[in-house]
Amino acid sequence: MDGHALHPSRVIEVEDSILASTYSKIPIVAVKGRGARIWDIDGREYVDCMGGYGVALVGHCHPKVVEAIRMQAEKLIVCHGSIYNDARAEFIEKLISIAPKGLDKVFLSNSGAEAVEAALKIARKYTGRKAFISMMGGYHGKTMGALSVTWREDYRHPFEPLIGEVRFTPYGDIDRLRSLATGDVAAVIVEPVQGESGVKIPPDDYLKEVRELCDEKGILLILDEIQCGLCRTGKMWASQHWGVTPDILCVAKGLASGIPIGATIAPRDIMDKLSVGEHTSTFGGNPIACAAGSATIDILISEKLAERAWEVGSLFKRMLEDRLSKYRVVREVRGLGLMIAFDLRLPVKDVVLGAAANGLLILYSGRTTVRLLPPLVIGREEVERAVSILEKLIAIEDEKLKSRIHPS
Ligand SMILES: Cc1ncc(COP(=O)(O)O)c(C=O)c1O
Repeated sequence: MDGHALHPSRVIEVEDSILASTYSKIPIVAVKGRGARIWDIDGREYVDCMGGYGVALVGHCHPKVVEAIRMQAEKLIVCHGSIYNDARAEFIEKLISIAPKGLDKVFLSNSGAEAVEAALKIARKYTGRKAFISMMGGYHGKTMGALSVTWREDYRHPFEPLIGEVRFTPYGDIDRLRSLATGDVAAVIVEPVQGESGVKIPPDDYLKEVRELCDEKGILLILDEIQCGLCRTGKMWASQHWGVTPDILCVAKGLASGIPIGATIAPRDIMDKLSVGEHTSTFGGNPIACAAGSATIDILISEKLAERAWEVGSLFKRMLEDRLSKYRVVREVRGLGLMIAFDLRLPVKDVVLGAAANGLLILYSGRTTVRLLPPLVIGREEVERAVSILEKLIAIEDEKLKSRIHPS
């Protein structure tokens, strides 16, 4: 408690009474993070498989990110896009150097939803067409445009009318997509691996077929790699697993290790359709975010975090399969690199809260799916600790399931 202004119970009370109640909360007051670990206000340690919802790619408070932020904060904290800035120029060169080939211009914003907003506007401007196709189960954010291409009805319905002309198609079904791909479609938007809907991996040929269909029909392909990109799945971009390059790429989350950022990347001829004033953002390209972004990209490369995500992710998934799949309550374990999920035959709320009580932070993906998005620097010992805690909790859920099937 030393050094903290508020008692833990006051922190919770203040947030609960003053913040808009739009988050389902885990009752922990986090005050410190390092690598793949978090500490709460009472000094209790947690293995962090939530990772700030997939943001802490290079680990919490990586010393090189902290140093880059500190140095930039001493030099210049704000620089509007109408003035040039050294940190911004350095960052966008690095970003383009890791972007898929041919995507050589970028619009900078402050979040995933904003990266998607920009992509939708660019697609309309470039094609002169109005409609979009999105995937059932897809998640692209909650601002009005991004929400329009987000699948879940309960997110969209209360806020309609959204942007019209969005058609949803089953993820993985190329024939249905083909039947919707008429001449008025500006873009198809896809997550190469669906995150919010529980780490859904497409059939092997699907993304290639989507790419071919878009080429054939003059439709732009927007890939949303906000959650699955930046080494998370074992490659810089998840779409590289299937050899697919988008027309527009959306990136955000861990790009600046937790400093708000969004990036929409496209080839020059597409991006140049936006004219002066048509799309701007006060904070987009902020020097602190750019300095943190440069440090993050350097670390992803120098610490070989794609390879590491693949190795540790494969180990993590195998251990979960070995130790959880024997319980009937577990339907399936799946994952790609360090983007992992498992489905239960019961709601996962008690597992999520029980994990926190036992020193492990994990995520919901809907009512019956647990998702794990740990920092890519998570170590073997932390993985073992996470699996042991999960096994203990799953055994309890399995007993619950048995007593439902055979009540005494
Ligand atoms: C794939 C994907 N797209 C877009 C978003 C929206 O990002 P943000 O919450 O930063 O607006 C998210 C957030 O979880 C996401 O996972």
